[in-house]
Amino acid sequence: MSTTLRLFLNVKFSTYAQHYSSKSGIVQLMQDLSIAPPPGGQLYPMGGGNPAHIPEVEEALRQIANEVVGDTVRFARMVGDYDAPQGHERFRTALAERLSNLFQKPLSAQNIAITNGSQASFEVLFNAFAGAFADGHWRHIELPIAPEYVGYNDMGRQQRPILRSTPARINLLADQQFKYGIDLDRFRVSSETSGAVCLSRPTNPSGNVVTDSELQEVAEKCVSAGVPLIIDGAYGLPFPGMIYTSATPFWDDNTILCLSLSKLGLPGVRTGIVVAAPEVTELIRNANAINGLAPTRVGPELVLPLLANKQMDTLCQQVIRPHYLQKQAFALDTLRDASADLPIRVHKPDGAMFLWVWFENLPGGTQKLYEAAANEGVVTVAGHHFFQGLTTDWQHANECLRINYAGNPGLVEEGIRRLIAIARRLYESETQASIAR
Ligand SMILES: Cc1ncc(COP(=O)(O)O)c(C=O)c1O
Repeated sequence: MSTTLRLFLNVKFSTYAQHYSSKSGIVQLMQDLSIAPPPGGQLYPMGGGNPAHIPEVEEALRQIANEVVGDTVRFARMVGDYDAPQGHERFRTALAERLSNLFQKPLSAQNIAITNGSQASFEVLFNAFAGAFADGHWRHIELPIAPEYVGYNDMGRQQRPILRSTPARINLLADQQFKYGIDLDRFRVSSETSGAVCLSRPTNPSGNVVTDSELQEVAEKCVSAGVPLIIDGAYGLPFPGMIYTSATPFWDDNTILCLSLSKLGLPGVRTGIVVAAPEVTELIRNANAINGLAPTRVGPELVLPLLANKQMDTLCQQVIRPHYLQKQAFALDTLRDASADLPIRVHKPDGAMFLWVWFENLPGGTQKLYEAAANEGVVTVAGHHFFQGLTTDWQHANECLRINYAGNPGLVEEGIRRLIAIARRLYESETQASIAR
């Protein structure tokens, strides 16, 4: 029998420790990544945001890693020296050149800062643009569309919540699909109460891609109010390019673009990238030095050759995008086949690597479904975690569930079938209860 040795019987944390609650959705989601299978059973991992293991991408990275390891000088520099606090200079220069072409704007290494994962970028940005200000105002991070990425929640290191969201407009589509839109009549940006606006494009969890015209309107509202627009491009362009619809990449000098190497296939090396005006990248530089001395050198060192020889674009367009599209079609077919008799809809999967499923009127809601499925080894994410920053309850938040389809296709197929079988049981339990009444 193993016991956990606790050092203090009566440990006392300061109020700051409340910012690191184990009840946070992102804590649960990340812990679920290493959940054990049920006794004697199989695990069907479709929960957290692990990207796919794509052989061609891993082979390209392995080749570069071998070259770095074989080069005494590069290897010693990569692992033996702290990097500059703004991050790898040659990587930033190469990326600036790539982004200048993409956005048709003159960007330089000064516009780029590296972080230890884009999750770390958001912690600094959200707290720098929201909370208490010297002019006496309390400003929010405005999320134009709820649901949004669960990792934005619990980022505030302030005394009050900093997120404020506008519920999405739901557009019902043919084929049991739906698509969220930004409710531009309700979504407001104010110079007095908004510190920044943030949206992920493509969106985690829904796979939505905010349209060009919606984005244009949001960007204009930001400029009019004098607040920056943070675009989270963790799944977007230029890498990993997980966009399956037409969408124009956007950046201007009022935009803070957050990129990541994670969904390219490198979540383990923790590399985030902030593309912004130098005032912002210098703030990130300072935060890097103060919070962690320096950002990682490993991600930039591994990816620099891909950027320099343009192999990156080939991998994104000819390998990564088709890989996810194929997995998405398979997951969607499996879901449709398994659930034809149930009242469920799927968000139009225009980007990222998720099926966002709406189980309308599911008895007990999707938290109950998530729990019942997890007990049987089927790991997903219950939808309510993604509806942070709302001021009123919204039934829809308890009816959605996220499925990550990036994993092993056999496990995803069986996982979806088992999940739907459990949902069917929940729907049928209500039918039987109402007959009994
Ligand atoms: C939309 C979105 N943004 C940011 C992140 C954070 O990514 P990382 O910290 O690995 O760069 C994730 C991770 O899943 C994400 O889905």
